Formats: sequence, C-alpha cells, structure tokens
Amino acid sequence: MAPARKQRGGSTKSAQFPPKDANIAQKRPGSVAFPIELQQLILDVFRRAFPFDDQSEVQKHIQEVKGHLFQRDFISAFAKQAYLDAYALRWSASRALGYSDILLHHDLQQIWLAKTVDSTSATRVACIGGGGGAEVAACAAAARSYSLSFKLEVHAIDIADWSSCLTKLEHAICTPSQLSPYASESAKATNKPLVPNDQFAVRFSQRDILAVEEGELRDILGGVRLCTIMFTLNELFTTSISRTTAFLLALTDTMQLGSWLLVVDSPGSYSEVKLGQGMEAKTRKYPMQWLLDHTLQQVAQSKWKKHVSDDSRWFRLDSSLKYPMELENMRYQIHLYQRVEEGVF
Ligand SMILES: C[S@@+](CC[C@H](N)C(=O)[O-])C[C@H]1O[C@@H](n2cnc3c(N)ncnc32)[C@H](O)[C@@H]1O
Repeated sequence: MAPARKQRGGSTKSAQFPPKDANIAQKRPGSVAFPIELQQLILDVFRRAFPFDDQSEVQKHIQEVKGHLFQRDFISAFAKQAYLDAYALRWSASRALGYSDILLHHDLQQIWLAKTVDSTSATRVACIGGGGGAEVAACAAAARSYSLSFKLEVHAIDIADWSSCLTKLEHAICTPSQLSPYASESAKATNKPLVPNDQFAVRFSQRDILAVEEGELRDILGGVRLCTIMFTLNELFTTSISRTTAFLLALTDTMQLGSWLLVVDSPGSYSEVKLGQGMEAKTRKYPMQWLLDHTLQQVAQSKWKKHVSDDSRWFRLDSSLKYPMELENMRYQIHLYQRVEEGVF
C-alpha cells in the first residue's frame, strides 16, 4: 500500500490504492491499471441498461442520430427517447471506457484520494452535458476501482431530457447481472453489481447551463469535488462565447477551494466569433483551449492551477472486448485545473 498522501488542507487518502483490480490488469506506463475485466463490466452495464430485440431498428435510430449530429442539429438528435437510448448504447459506452481510463490515470488519482470532510455526506461530482451517461459510468468505475470509503453522488446536468436513460443506467450499475438458473454456486457468489447502491447515486437536472441563475448554480456546483465538462465545452462556446465565458466565471466563484475542473474535448476544437458590424464584419476562430485558459487563468485572475494539459491523447479499445455494436477509439484533448486561492501555487 502506498503511504497516505497529504492533500491541501491536511486531509489524507481514504481510498484503496492501488485499486483492487490492479493485480489482474495490464499496467499502463505511469498509470494505475484499467483491467480488461472492468472494461467488459462497464460495457455489460450499457448492454443491460439499453436492451434491444431488433438490431436493424437500433441501427436505423443510430443512423438518424448520426445524421442530426453531423448537421450539428442537437435538438433533433436528442428529440426522442429511442434516439437517446441509441446514442447511449452506441456512443456513451465507448466514451465511458475512455473516461474511466482518464479517471483512473495517475494524473487524476489525487481527486479520489482526498478524504471527505464529513464522512456521513456523499462526495459529489457534477457533469455538465453529462446526460448521456458516459461520465456517470466512468465515475462508477472509479468508485469501484478505488473502493471509495464515501458515497459518490454523480449529478448530470444537461439541456436534453436524459432522465429515463440515467435511471436505467443507474439501475444497471447498482444491480448484479441476471444469471441463468443453472449458474454455478461460485458464479452466484461472485455476481456483484458494478457498485452497490449504498455507495453510488445518480441525480439529473435538465437545464441549459448557460441560462442557470446564480442560486441554482450554487446548488449544482457548491461543494462538489469535481466538475466535468466532457465533449460539451466547445459546443457551449459555439453557442455563445460571451455566455460561456460568463458561465466559467460564475463556476469559478462557486466552486470551493481545492475542487477540480476536468475538461475533455475533441483535439483542435475551435469556435467562431463575429467581430464588427455589417460589411465590416469579420469572423475569427478561437481555439477552445485558448478561450478556456484565457477565462480561467487571466480573466479569473489565477484562481485555477493547471495540473494537466494535453492537446492530444488516445484511448484505444482492446480487441477482446465484446459488445453488440461498433465501439470507437477516442482521441481527445484534456485539461485539469484545481481551484486555488488567488495567486497561491
Ligand atoms: C457532444 S454531447 C457529449 C455528451 C457526453 N458529455 C459525452 O461526452 O459523451 C454534448 C452534450 O451537451 C449537452 N448540452 C449542449 N448544450 C448544453 C447546454 N447549454 N446546457 C446543458 N447541456 C448542454 C447536450 O445535450 C449533450 O448531451
């Protein structure tokens, strides 16, 4: 066991380290393990949460969602329940593996190792644009891997109504898979949920995060240990650079000292902004990373310490994984910040 780490504010680790599945895992250089067995359990959770009888019907929905996403018509892409289920089954499952890999990476261990101030209350994670469930499943994987001694509550905030998907996903996470009546006694004895429901809870709020009032933002972000914005920030900047900047500044004012902000997005994402009026108007492209850094480190006057920043990383799938549909490798940019006292590094 590694020695207890001192955290900001003097707290010590409260999670098992290395994670309990580490002994059966392939080790990645510089990282804790993300065992194939755990990856398969996560995929099984998605398969159980979103069962289907008719492969051609699901594929039809997936193609329709893909068409809407290609047109950047997010309202249509997430307009009906069948589309949301198809999206979660097709895209959130691969993303959940990529996000679990991120959360188990050594860069992020310190987020999970800090002890809770009050062991009776849950540790909270807020996932902006997290309705699709990938972040929720990845947090469950982290809770399992680190054997957290506190309850983890994951709050997904999303403009689309993902409530039904998340209820199904939470149920699949917290319930053991159904075994055949002929299953062996040892299979029955080891058939456990990914995470038991007394250690994991999911909450959902359907909100446009750019329109949330200050008081509600405090309810969403006040006291969270981690806020994630996964493959959503560039979409927010594209909607409105000024409103997204205002949101990031409000987030800065709301998040407690020592808490973390994790931003993951496509590499090379940029947003366009129109400068000037009429014939004089010009469009200018700003890289998402520049907008984020500019807001958090200059406009927010150094209230964030940047721990990780990488323009391009890959999560590649193992060919032994079994899933009823195509999965995708994930290439992403990643930025991890910690809320600090102004000017303290
Ligand atoms: C590209 S998807 C990414 C989903 C998920 N985070 C993932 O990585 O798999 C973007 C998500 O952000 C949500 N979203 C877009 N604009 C939003 C807004 N203004 N407020 C809250 N959620 C928003 C969408 O509904 C969608 O679920």
